[in-house]
Amino acid sequence: MGLIEELCNAYGPAGREHGVRKLIQKELKKHCPKIHTDRLGNLIARRPAQNAKTGEKIMLCAHMDEIGLIVTYIDKKGFLRFTNVGGIFPGRILHQRVVFENGTIGVIGFDRDEGSLKTPEKPKLDKMYIDIGAGNRKEAQQMVQIGDIASFYQQAIHISDTRISSKALDDRIGCYCLIEAAKKVKNRKHDLYFVFSVQEEVGLRGARTGAFAIAPNYALAVDVTDTGDTPEAHKMEVALGKGTAIKVKDSWFIANPMIKDKLVKYAKTLKIPYQLEILEMGTTDAAIIQLVREGVMSGVLSIPTRYIHSTNEVCDMNDVKGTIKLLTYVCEKGLS
Ligand code: CO
Ligand code: ZN
Repeated sequence: MGLIEELCNAYGPAGREHGVRKLIQKELKKHCPKIHTDRLGNLIARRPAQNAKTGEKIMLCAHMDEIGLIVTYIDKKGFLRFTNVGGIFPGRILHQRVVFENGTIGVIGFDRDEGSLKTPEKPKLDKMYIDIGAGNRKEAQQMVQIGDIASFYQQAIHISDTRISSKALDDRIGCYCLIEAAKKVKNRKHDLYFVFSVQEEVGLRGARTGAFAIAPNYALAVDVTDTGDTPEAHKMEVALGKGTAIKVKDSWFIANPMIKDKLVKYAKTLKIPYQLEILEMGTTDAAIIQLVREGVMSGVLSIPTRYIHSTNEVCDMNDVKGTIKLLTYVCEKGLS
């Protein structure tokens, strides 16, 4: 796995993306000499067209941040109360390990009061705490401060020949696809901006300033999407291993039909499997990029992923490889 492992294991909740940024910067330095960080923290790597002024200006975007937990209060016994940074499902985090930037590790527990015990399958965040092994408030304060943000503590692993499991596949797997496309693209007719955005999980914030500065003709976000292929899942066509998903619609975004059709056409030309995606809950950076300035024609390539926003998301490497292939092709052919 190598780079994927490094990306996924890195600490990088929303607003604290510097570790991930450093990693990507190091990886792309050789390939993209024009690389900079903007004021909000987005990493923008440019691969200019070989023949200036003829091509399209294309923005490709994947977010570096992951969801996290922020400490709000430390009690007398040294347990940390917290709230969410991004979309946390309380039922998916109970008794998981978390890690703070300084290396402090904790386990998530919940109040054993009558109300909580009656519905342990439906824990509430304000009934949960992080146990960092401290004996009292003073000890805890030496390890963690109010406002410190924890990410999940989990290692990326292969669970089968093609499937990997990790925290933060959302959206480090998208970052990986962008990195690989930026390395692979040869015939550079178009002005390419690879944007690794910050704070997607708290409201698509980095993508907004990134798109404003770049003012692209076209944009493509690469992110994860839900699947409908697990037992008793809701009705959704997208399945793991059946190909890169070309987005048609999600909660906040309708793909530009011309771009959607172009992506389908390219997938057919390349003979790679693809699936059409309608995501009923959730969105990506493309939802905000399309609204910047006078509007940007936008699309999304999604990597089908199970258990999104849990400590063990799962995706299939064949879908990842297909996404990289299609993305690289877009970089070379453009979107008009
Ligand atoms: Co997410
Ligand atoms: Zn995401």
